[in-house]
Amino acid sequence: MNKLIVSLLLTVGISGIAHAAGDATAGQAKAAVCGACHGPDGNSMAPNFPKLAGQGERYLNKQLVDIKSGKRTVLEMTGLLTNLSDQDLADMSAYFASQKGSVGAADPKVVARGEALFRGGDLAKGLPACTGCHSPDGKGNAAAGFPHLGGQHAQYIAKQLTDFRKEEGGRTNDGDVKTMQTIAKKLSDEDIAAVSSYIQGLH
Ligand code: HEC
Ligand code: HEC
Repeated sequence: MNKLIVSLLLTVGISGIAHAAGDATAGQAKAAVCGACHGPDGNSMAPNFPKLAGQGERYLNKQLVDIKSGKRTVLEMTGLLTNLSDQDLADMSAYFASQKGSVGAADPKVVARGEALFRGGDLAKGLPACTGCHSPDGKGNAAAGFPHLGGQHAQYIAKQLTDFRKEEGGRTNDGDVKTMQTIAKKLSDEDIAAVSSYIQGLH
């Protein structure tokens, strides 16, 4: 067979696997073990455990693949995904994506600063508005894999931004262009506290 056709078939085959559709019903049973930390329906109660309910399926699946491979370190989940297949990860992603996410409240003292940053960025620092990718209501863009942020625990959001900002030992799984690492490096501690609180109440 012609080499070009073989490689085209391979490409189609591989992307077919990468985008294997998840089965939310099968995913619910597989995700039973996750409920202890993330909540049975993905609305975790603890502020350091992220809510997964209503998060985009593509984003969830990417994080699970990255956590399983060690590209993103989550100590609390060590070993948990080792024996799960790509299909298991896709099914659990479909399940949590199909659940309704809960919303928290913002701290009134910092909400104005948080809102200004989220909606307008900071021109002087070359900081883009978060709305460009995470949308004005914080829902993100599920098809593009831009995560839903609205209603997420402020403590978890602040830890992610701090981790993206770290020079070493932080979170580095945001792709070759390092979008979130570049953005987080432009944020002060006060910026992070304000925008994280704003996001917790955003819906
Ligand atoms: C012992 C607690 C614990 C258990 C059990 C657990 N997780 Fe997690 N998970 C965490 C913590 C903590 C984080 C966030 C770590 C950080 O701060 O970066 C996380 C992060 C995640 C993320 C990334 C969320 C985001 O917004 O980026 C996904 C997806 C996830 N977990 C899915 C699962 C699934 C699916 C299971 C079950 C197979 C599971 N977790 C079981 C504690 C747990
Ligand atoms: C150019 C697009 C873009 C802009 C602008 C952007 N983000 Fe992001 N953000 C992303 C992408 C893509 C990811 C997912 C990275 C990955 O795959 O791990 C992400 C991830 C995140 C996460 C981690 C979510 C989670 O559940 O762990 C947080 C928090 C976040 N962004 C906050 C912000 C804030 C705050 C701003 C504005 C100051 C912002 N982002 C601006 C594209 C963007």
